[in-house]
Amino acid sequence: MDKILILDFGSQTTQLIGRRIRDMGVYTEIMPGDSALGAEALGPEVKGIILSGSPESVYDQGAAPDKKIYDCGLPLLGICYGLQRMTHDLGGKVEPLPKREYGRIGVKVAGSKEQGASNGNNVCGELAAKFLSGFKDSFIAWMSHGDTLTKLAPGFKEAGTSDTGYPAVIVHEEKPWFGLQFHPEVTHCECGNEILSAFIFGVCACTAGWTMEHYVEEVRSSLTARIGNSPVLLLISGGVDSTVAGALLLKTLQSDQVHLMYMDTGLMRKDETKAVKASLEQLGARHLHIVMCEEEFLGALKGLSEPEAKRRAIGDLFITIQEREVARLGLPEHYFLAQGTLYTDLIESGKGVGKKAHLIKSHHNVGSPLVDAKRKAGKIIEPLDRLYKDEVRRVGRFLGVDEDVVRRHPFPGPGLAVRILGEVTREKCDILREADAIYIEELKRRKTPAGRSLYDEIWQAFAVLLPIRSVGVAGDVRKYGWVLALRAITSADGMTADVYPFETKDLLEISTRITNSVQDIGRVTYDISSKPPATIEWE
Ligand code: XMP
Repeated sequence: MDKILILDFGSQTTQLIGRRIRDMGVYTEIMPGDSALGAEALGPEVKGIILSGSPESVYDQGAAPDKKIYDCGLPLLGICYGLQRMTHDLGGKVEPLPKREYGRIGVKVAGSKEQGASNGNNVCGELAAKFLSGFKDSFIAWMSHGDTLTKLAPGFKEAGTSDTGYPAVIVHEEKPWFGLQFHPEVTHCECGNEILSAFIFGVCACTAGWTMEHYVEEVRSSLTARIGNSPVLLLISGGVDSTVAGALLLKTLQSDQVHLMYMDTGLMRKDETKAVKASLEQLGARHLHIVMCEEEFLGALKGLSEPEAKRRAIGDLFITIQEREVARLGLPEHYFLAQGTLYTDLIESGKGVGKKAHLIKSHHNVGSPLVDAKRKAGKIIEPLDRLYKDEVRRVGRFLGVDEDVVRRHPFPGPGLAVRILGEVTREKCDILREADAIYIEELKRRKTPAGRSLYDEIWQAFAVLLPIRSVGVAGDVRKYGWVLALRAITSADGMTADVYPFETKDLLEISTRITNSVQDIGRVTYDISSKPPATIEWE
C-alpha cells in the first residue's frame, strides 16, 4: 500500500497532517523528525516525505532530519519549520521575524501557476504545475511562525508570497521539493486539503487504499496477537473514547477476559454513571467495576482554586484509587492495562511522537505510576492512540456502538472540576450538573433549518460555573446568584475551534429556561472566544 512518511519535529498539528491524508485514503506513518532512515523506513511503498512544523528554530535547538531524505529522490514537502529546515539544510538562510506572524494571513500565488504550467516541459516543471494546481490564486492561509526565509536555498524559487511580504510557497526548479510557510492541515486554511491532495496524488502519484475497516481489522489482529488469553483491564471514563476502546476489546477478545473499571468521581455529568453502565452492558461487558469515590475527590479538591493544582490533585487521587482498586480486583501479574487515549491527549501533554511538543495542560489520563509501570513492562494497550475524535466515532459506528454514545460530545477526564472555576464543592457540582443538563437537552431538541439538531451541529457544548455572583431580581425580590457561561464550539478535532454562531432567539430561550429552573443561577453569558487564543475548557 502506498505510504507517506511524516517527519515530526514537534508541531501541535503534525498528527493532523496525517489525519487529512488518511482521510484521502492514503496511509501515513509519523516518525520523530531526527530518526535515522534505514532502507526499511524508505521502502518502495513510501511515495513522499513531509517535514512537519516545530516550536523550535532551525538555528536554535531544532532537530535535523536524516540527510538521506535529500538523496533518496522522493518528493519532499516542508511545512512551516519543515520548509525552514529544508532551506537551512540546503544552503538558504532563515532569520527571526521582527514580529511573530500568527493566525489568518492572505497568500498570493497568481502568476506562479501559469509559469509553473509553461515550465511543464520537464518532469519537475510538470510536477510543480501539478502541485500549484491545488492552490487558489489568492487565499487565506493559517500561519504560526517566528522565523522566515531571508534567502532561498539554491534551485528554489518563490511561487507564493504572504500579504505581509514573506515567502509562503517555494518550489525547486529541478527536484520534486516543495515548501509552505503556512499550515494546510488546519481547517482554517482555505484550499488546504486541495494543496495536500495536489502533493499526495499529483506529485507523489499515490493510490488511495486506506480505509477505516482496514484500520479496525489491523488493530483487532494486533490486539489478539499481543493479548492472547491474558486478562485486560480497561479504565473507562464514560466518554466516546473509552467506550469505543471497550467495544474494540469486547468485540475482539472473550468477554470474560475484559475487565472494565469506571470511577464515579462526583465530577460527572447528570446521570452519567447510569448511562455508562447501560451502554457497556449492551456491548456485552461482563466484568464492570464501578467505583463510587465522590467523597474522596471532593475532599482532595477542598481549598484548591488554581487550575493546575486542581488537575494535579485529581490526577494524584485517580492514581491512588486506581492502584487500590486494581489491587482489590486481584488480577494476575501479567494482565494488560488498556486506555482510550487519543492522539490529542498525547500531544497536548507534550508526549507526541516527536517529544518536542510543549505542555499546554496536564491530562491526567496520560501518566500514572501504574500506567508507566505497565508501559515499561510492555503491557499497555492504547488502541485509539493514533486517532482523532471524529475517527474514533467512525470506528464506534463501525463496531455498532450506540448512536447516543457515538454522538456524545467530548468530556474532560477531570470532569466538572475544570468547569467550576475556583474551588469545587458538591453544591456547585449539583448546580452546574442541573444547568448543563438543561443546556444539552435544549441543544438536542432544537433544530437547524436543515432539520439537524443543534447538538449534532456543535462539536462540544457545556456550561461553566464562574466563581462570581451577580445581583438580579426575581419576583420583586433581590437575588444574588451565580454567573453561568455557556460554551459551544465547532471543530474538526479539538485542536482549533470556532464559536458556534447561535441564533439569538435560541440563546435567549436557553438562558431563560436555565435561570427559571436553576434557582442559584442569576445570570447567563455566552463565551465568544475561539481556540486559539482560548482553549476549549476554561481551566
Ligand atoms: P482544551 O481545553 O485543551 O481541550 O482546548 C481540548 C479537548 O480536550 C478535552 N480536555 C481533556 N480531556 N483530559 C481529557 O481527557 C483532560 O484533562 C482534558 N482537558 C481538556 C476538552 O474537553 C476538549 O475536548
